[in-house]
Amino acid sequence: MSKLGIYIHWPYCISKCPYCDFNSHKLKDYEPNNWLEAYKNQIKYFKEYLIIHDFNSKNLSSIFFGGGTPSLMQPKLIEQILIYINKLFNFDNNIEITLESNPTNLELNRISDFRSAGVNRISLGVQGLNDTDLKFLGRLHNSLDTFNILDLMQKKINNISVDLIYALSCQNLKTWNRELQTFLNRFSIQHLSAYQLVIEKGTKFYDLLNKGKIKIVSDSKYKQFYFSTKSILEENKFNQYEISNFSKPNYFSKHNSIYWKSENWIGIGPGAVSRIWNDKNERIEFQNFKKPVTWLKNCLHGKTNFKKNIKINTDISEQEILMMGLRLNEGLDLNKLQNKTFLYNDDVLKLKKKGIIKIEKNNLRINEDYFNVHDYIVRKIIDNYLSS
Ligand SMILES: C[S@@+](CC[C@H](N)C(=O)[O-])C[C@H]1O[C@@H](n2cnc3c(N)ncnc32)[C@H](O)[C@@H]1O
Ligand code: SF4
Repeated sequence: MSKLGIYIHWPYCISKCPYCDFNSHKLKDYEPNNWLEAYKNQIKYFKEYLIIHDFNSKNLSSIFFGGGTPSLMQPKLIEQILIYINKLFNFDNNIEITLESNPTNLELNRISDFRSAGVNRISLGVQGLNDTDLKFLGRLHNSLDTFNILDLMQKKINNISVDLIYALSCQNLKTWNRELQTFLNRFSIQHLSAYQLVIEKGTKFYDLLNKGKIKIVSDSKYKQFYFSTKSILEENKFNQYEISNFSKPNYFSKHNSIYWKSENWIGIGPGAVSRIWNDKNERIEFQNFKKPVTWLKNCLHGKTNFKKNIKINTDISEQEILMMGLRLNEGLDLNKLQNKTFLYNDDVLKLKKKGIIKIEKNNLRINEDYFNVHDYIVRKIIDNYLSS
């Protein structure tokens, strides 16, 4: 039975962080009823699409409100969206309903309302563990705000995930290790995502890097941060199940696992993308209009228009399966691929011989000791896939 998730995109934030290249814009006045109608129209469209295409999934396993900063949405709006989804889809008994949240006073006062609206998992954008790092990242909150919200949140929600951005040029490894350990001692969290800072084209950091005003760390410094973070988290009973993701047993992200395992998801809201396996086992992509006002206009009054609605070519879809699946410690199920001849190419056999990748039965995975150079290994595998 195929897994199905729904992603709902909220595109607004209080301000734009200098590193962020997500589809997020400075918050403007908005009309919640229009947004509710537009969200509902797209949800209904997909429900009908799945019926027409005989989609073989009984239950919905996850709903993810991402952004932007969806914790700026009125809890009432979130509740109404969830009520509507529940009318159209059967929820799994253990459905995961995540809300991305920023750790400010606004959210502190809304935790109970989010919980009553149906949210059962919070992904909190902590990002930095001290005020210097938070300032460098252009965040609007300080570490005290984070600690206050987590103190309260851990009493109300038993599935909390925290996002951190680390290995910054201003960070010192010993200090980072100490801060991370102190943080883990103090709070009861179930999941942690630790991301290396990526400098994306079009962001403020990209310009600053080009002007020499900020620096990024060397590969060797990143390697030290990466393995040290991994070992602290593992000592604290977090399992690394994906390159950047760690969880206590059974608290892996159901939603992101749908992406990593190339299952089915529906993307609602500006810029959101959907991927569905149809009844002919073809991978179908829907891409929503990215600009919030354009999307809204296109999804109001019973309409739902897309920027793109295509069948993805098998080569592209298989590259995606490889790229996403190789992020997981458990690797990917080779039965998902039609073309497996690349596994016998010299380069791939060499990687296998050196123990950098493992191929056992129908499973291909990267040895986690090489996760710090994951991108390089995946590139090599994809090049071989394309040339075979
Ligand atoms: C949609 S964003 C988070 C939303 C939420 N508004 C926040 O700021 O916490 C998802 C996560 O991606 C990570 N992220 C975003 N841009 C990044 C970048 N350039 N490098 C590394 N991590 C990044 C951050 O940890 C962030 O929490
Ligand atoms: S990191 Fe979060 S708060 Fe900052 S601009 Fe991106 S989505 Fe908004």
